[in-house]
Amino acid sequence: MEAAYLPKSWPVDQILDDLDQHGFTIIDDAYTPTYIHALVEECLSNLNQFRDAAIQNGVVSNIRSDHILWINENLEYAQQHIQALNALAQEFNRAFYSGIQDVEAHFACYNAGEYYALHRDNPQGKNGRVISAVYYLHENWQADWGGELRLQDKNDKWHIVQPKPNRIALFQSDLLHEVLKAKHQRLSITAWLRNDSTLW
Ligand code: OGA
Ligand code: MN
Repeated sequence: MEAAYLPKSWPVDQILDDLDQHGFTIIDDAYTPTYIHALVEECLSNLNQFRDAAIQNGVVSNIRSDHILWINENLEYAQQHIQALNALAQEFNRAFYSGIQDVEAHFACYNAGEYYALHRDNPQGKNGRVISAVYYLHENWQADWGGELRLQDKNDKWHIVQPKPNRIALFQSDLLHEVLKAKHQRLSITAWLRNDSTLW
């Protein structure tokens, strides 16, 4: 992993402590307005390339109805977010010996009526995902628009997280969670900090 820049406003000690105690934390006010604007533009200008997340290798599932676009090196603003997560991963490696080597991510768009039913991103250690990080990038969100992240922390306590703009929800990838039905277009980047390498 290349050396990367960790945003100064991120409360690293709090993040490490929360993840240790609860397996879950929130970062609010993650980025500057200028950067957010560029990132939202990048997402919106590529919406026509998003595909049904429910279809994988030609097989359709009914667990989710959102649309996604995997992030590659051509998406320069999304790459900067991935680099910030890489820098945070180095803190996790120092504190927890997490062995994170790589970050993979996709944009996600939930249109009105779309959802993602209860699941784990890494059930029974099946894949290399250690931490999931969801960044919310729509520029407005109202409390009655649904689309909450509902998550069970590592002490079995349930949390309901509003997908507030400029917020990152970070949680252990083995925890149970869902996205409740959205009533408005909901834009995000889901990233996974992995202890294996997806490079080929
Ligand atoms: C996922 C996911 C949660 C969210 O993409 O796997 O659970 O709040 N996302 O978007
Ligand atoms: Mn998930």
